[in-house]
Amino acid sequence: MTNSIRNTLIVTALSLAFATACKMTYDALAIDYNPDFARADVAEGKRLTTMMCGVCHFDQKTGQLTGVQMVDVPKVLGTIIASNITQHEEKGIGKYTDAELAQVIRTGIARDGRLIPFMQKPNLADDDLRDIIAFLRSDDPMVKASDIEPGETKYSRVGKMAIGSEKPTPWKHGIQKPGSSDKLAYGKYLIDNLACYDCHSKSFAKVDKVDIEKSKGFMGGGNKMLNKLGEKVLTPNLTPHETGIKDWTEADFARAITQGFTKGNKVIAYPMPLYPDLNPTEISAMFAYLQSIPAIKNQP
Ligand code: HEC
Ligand code: HEC
Repeated sequence: MTNSIRNTLIVTALSLAFATACKMTYDALAIDYNPDFARADVAEGKRLTTMMCGVCHFDQKTGQLTGVQMVDVPKVLGTIIASNITQHEEKGIGKYTDAELAQVIRTGIARDGRLIPFMQKPNLADDDLRDIIAFLRSDDPMVKASDIEPGETKYSRVGKMAIGSEKPTPWKHGIQKPGSSDKLAYGKYLIDNLACYDCHSKSFAKVDKVDIEKSKGFMGGGNKMLNKLGEKVLTPNLTPHETGIKDWTEADFARAITQGFTKGNKVIAYPMPLYPDLNPTEISAMFAYLQSIPAIKNQP
């Protein structure tokens, strides 16, 4: 092999590797999505959307899901802006079909094929997915068409590499929500779908979205994020270890996530969302589940 042929091969291989590493768009899946919307509970859809989507898409200024910049994301990744997901035809999600919405929520593949890994919910139950979509289609003021443009996501080169290493999560039919009497399974479902594990494990890059317990340092904290002042914060350890929440009571936990105070009465600040809409059964299940997982020694 001559040097020039070899060099050409190396360059081709490298650019292929780079292109593969940077794959950021995917074809739409052939999803057959026809839930019985007559059975949808729009009020429940609003509660779920507020807790699961509002965290990123709700703008305090408009009181709507008009989108905002995710300032907790480290700047090296670029500027990441959660879209306007009101019903506007051009600026919002007015053109999305139900199947396209279901696809982006479970797999992260948007209508135009771009991958949005921040919001992948592969284990979201069919009923919850249906209720969320019914709410997004409802006449609630929170989703009424608004032409506000929150700005456009611009990934840096590092950000492109990071997104390129993410994969769409699988689409599945027939996901049942565990019953509240199966406390641990119910708690796990909530820790999964409210994305507690995503922020509270070791790193966003090492979470397993399909089998959350396989995430590196599952619930042991230490994930680096930014607060409103742009300062680095590490997420706390929520496992049943002395360095975690072993000595917390269920009441301490409830107060922390609904009102924003730690057991030691410190204010819990952004980017930790508050969840005043969680009910006592849900909180109790989440707490029981967290007390049941392997303890990790880590004082972030
Ligand atoms: C962790 C933050 C986060 C959460 C939680 C989140 N999203 Fe998103 N979402 C984003 C970001 C960021 C984008 C835009 C990414 C981009 O511009 O490439 C986005 C884009 C979208 C889009 C695509 C809009 C378009 O222009 O094609 C839809 C639809 C959407 N989100 C719906 C939802 C719904 C419904 C939920 C709740 C079930 C949700 N999102 C939860 C961050 C989030
Ligand atoms: C967007 C990332 C993010 C999400 C999602 C998130 N948290 Fe947090 N959480 C944080 C950060 C960051 C802190 C620390 C905030 C501070 O120190 O002011 C925190 C603090 C806490 C604390 C206080 C612990 C202590 O020892 O001080 C508890 C409890 C907690 N989160 C539980 C949860 C639960 C339960 C969920 C899911 C329902 C959740 N968090 C979702 C980022 C997140």
